[in-house]
Amino acid sequence: MSVSWNTMRMLPWFLVFSTVSLQAWGTPTMVSRKEWGARALTCRALLSPPVPYLITDQLAGMECEEQNTCSQLLRGLQSHSVHTKGWCDLAFNFLVGADGRVYEGVGWDVQGLHAPGYNNISLGIAFFGSKIGSSPSPAALSAAEGLIFYAIQSGHLSPRYIQPHLLKQEICLSSQHPVIPSKACPNIIPRSAWEARETHCPQMDLPAKYAIIIHTAGIGCNVSMDCLLCVRGIQSFHMDKRDFCDIGYHFLVGEDGGVYEGLGWYSQGSHTYGYNDIALGIAFMGNFVEKPPNAVALKAAQDLIQCAVVKGYLDPNYLLLGHSDVVNTLSPGQALYNIIKTWPHFRN
Ligand SMILES: *[C@@H]1O[C@H](CO)[C@@H](O)[C@H](O)[C@H]1NC(C)=O
Ligand SMILES: *[C@@H]1O[C@H](CO)[C@@H](O)[C@H](O)[C@H]1NC(C)=O
Repeated sequence: MSVSWNTMRMLPWFLVFSTVSLQAWGTPTMVSRKEWGARALTCRALLSPPVPYLITDQLAGMECEEQNTCSQLLRGLQSHSVHTKGWCDLAFNFLVGADGRVYEGVGWDVQGLHAPGYNNISLGIAFFGSKIGSSPSPAALSAAEGLIFYAIQSGHLSPRYIQPHLLKQEICLSSQHPVIPSKACPNIIPRSAWEARETHCPQMDLPAKYAIIIHTAGIGCNVSMDCLLCVRGIQSFHMDKRDFCDIGYHFLVGEDGGVYEGLGWYSQGSHTYGYNDIALGIAFMGNFVEKPPNAVALKAAQDLIQCAVVKGYLDPNYLLLGHSDVVNTLSPGQALYNIIKTWPHFRN
């Protein structure tokens, strides 16, 4: 079941506090910076407690269920924040894993970088995405409630705190697009999330007549951090080494279950000579000659195709092709080809 995060933002935390004895909330298990292997905190701007605002967010697609995985993701996210974003540290004060552990971000005392205009007056809490587009786990929600209760008790957060409804800013790796409630449409991770270079390519002829399934033949990814880097690397390779106008594919699918916006709907691809202006090029990241992509990746691609029809980007009578049907190539790999042969609209 997929629940819009915008709905999740309105979770009745206030109701919970008014109907359940406050003493019922235990302090959640906290994993300190030292425990997850953080580099030293260099942020200096302090918060003046108690702060009046609480900001919650979800790191779309960054799944983690246990301490080792969450810690590894955090170290990656911290490096990304410092080296790529040029920030002093992670954007959030605390992060909550699907296992119900609370991970110390920049902590109680210093300002985060999670919501421009609110950083000096709020605590920012992020949930690791359980699955893209779905709600945090019950354990994560309960941990967040415990954390908020503790924040109030210890004087860091005003008891009358406000959770503002913010227009989505570009918050680190989280998606800029609201989650589309229709089951058919997956949450598409936008170009901004992987820091795409800006380009101006010729326009597509929409609706597209074909969907072509491709594999990148390179290294795959099953963790969102890796997938983001992978997509960025492919854009550089296509533009700098192959002289393409942009990344060659319209969308890329990772074994993290994420759909990554490549060119998006509106620009011509550089994937299949003769078809680039009339076919959506959908590339699975990895090599699928011997082993097919995992179930979440296959599902994400099918959802994307269905979504393209629903939204009018793909002709309802489209034909589905394997890359090797129209170009002399191993792509999309025999193992993946055997699967797409069974999908609707496949042309023999
Ligand atoms: C927060 O920052 C804004 C803009 O930089 C400033 O106007 C405001 O006074 C600050 N508030 C606090 C409580 O520091
Ligand atoms: C994820 O990828 C790594 C290396 O690419 C691999 O070792 C691991 O088994 C993969 N995990 C899953 C759940 O597929």
